[in-house]
Amino acid sequence: MRVTHLSLTDFRNYESAELELAPGPNLFVGSNGQGKTNLVEALGYLSTLASHRVSSDHAMIRSGCDAAIVRARLSNGDQSVLAEVQLNRVGANRAQINRSAIKTRELPRYFSSVLFAPEDLALVRGEPSGRRRFLDELLILRTPRMSAVVADYDRVLRQRNSLLKSARASGTRGQLGTLDIWDERLINFGTEIIDARADLVDELAPEVELAYAAIAGAEHAASLSNQLSILSTGTDDFETDPTGEVLRRDRLTADQTAEAFRAALVRVRRAELERGITLAGPHRDDLVLTLNDLPARGYASHGESWSFALSLKLASAAVLRRESNSGDPVLILDDVFAELDESRRDRLADAVEGFEQVLITAAVGGDVPNRLGGNSVLIRAGRIVAGDENA
Ligand SMILES: Nc1ncnc2c1ncn2[C@@H]1O[C@H](COP(=O)(O)OP(=O)(O)OP(=O)(O)O)[C@@H](O)[C@H]1O
Ligand SMILES: [Mg+2]
Repeated sequence: MRVTHLSLTDFRNYESAELELAPGPNLFVGSNGQGKTNLVEALGYLSTLASHRVSSDHAMIRSGCDAAIVRARLSNGDQSVLAEVQLNRVGANRAQINRSAIKTRELPRYFSSVLFAPEDLALVRGEPSGRRRFLDELLILRTPRMSAVVADYDRVLRQRNSLLKSARASGTRGQLGTLDIWDERLINFGTEIIDARADLVDELAPEVELAYAAIAGAEHAASLSNQLSILSTGTDDFETDPTGEVLRRDRLTADQTAEAFRAALVRVRRAELERGITLAGPHRDDLVLTLNDLPARGYASHGESWSFALSLKLASAAVLRRESNSGDPVLILDDVFAELDESRRDRLADAVEGFEQVLITAAVGGDVPNRLGGNSVLIRAGRIVAGDENA
């Protein structure tokens, strides 16, 4: 799919902007702080209802204004829709398709995009929670039903944690009968998440390997594996103690997962009562990234970490592309090229050239290989100085 036209009203530093977009690569250039990222953030929001930079929508409304509007014409083969979201400072946001109101949460069904931005470096260098979120977001994009399973698991986890906390505070174990009921629910929803993530990692791993080799060269091997807290041998918490011994088993059947989960809850029960939190389950798992047999986290160089994070995003685009009946997701690359060496830039250009549409931002146009710069747009102070590279 692709975006053919974008309109912004009071979004970030754009008072009002209209922009035609071309198929294939589109390059947004301009000095720092002019509005390049703001522009692609608007499209990312239309596609996912979330910003890659902020958790509150208010920061995206132009300062001093009450509402921001992002409107885009999306085309997919010979079909075209007009998608719109309005972010309101007061009251709920609103969404429209072809100028008719729809439920805001239905908007992502109309627009699929994959955005890579500097913040994604945290996928490699940051805490496990970011990697879990990455997997779960992709899980939900592929299988929307999983959204309810993830929400149910979170709810059960919160309730179980508060039961553990109150048992700890009161020093009585009287409520522990109730705990067994929560255990079963936790195991049911948790098993579904663990297994779905395992399937996803099976699909994603070869794509990550391909994407990394495509960017860095075939002599580099990037791989992924799930680290399951339910297989942790002791009460060691590998999130805080990465040296803690963890059993690695690549694949469990659903029955084995549930069984291992149940056994893990028995193992950690004492520690859970002492600490008042749930110590085993998908909320404490990690996606381990390995580069040339070393863990990427803590070992990979800046450029390598960057390439790995980018490979994770390119791999998710490849998975979505394969499964989608609405064409390729729109690929958005914010500030990617400046961080890569010459040969990686070239290879990245090769890797993304086949996508229906790629949106690229760069402060220095010369950092982006020429063949991606055909449709180049200059951005200055929240204005689109279309097509005039010397303006
Ligand atoms: N809600 C808002 N209202 C008005 N201006 C805003 C708002 N949010 C951000 N800005 C302004 O937008 C500018 C940043 O734009 P953006 O992040 O798109 O820059 P950029 O062109 O991507 O720069 P860089 O090359 O440094 O990444 C800043 O000057 C900031 O003050
Ligand atoms: Mg930027």
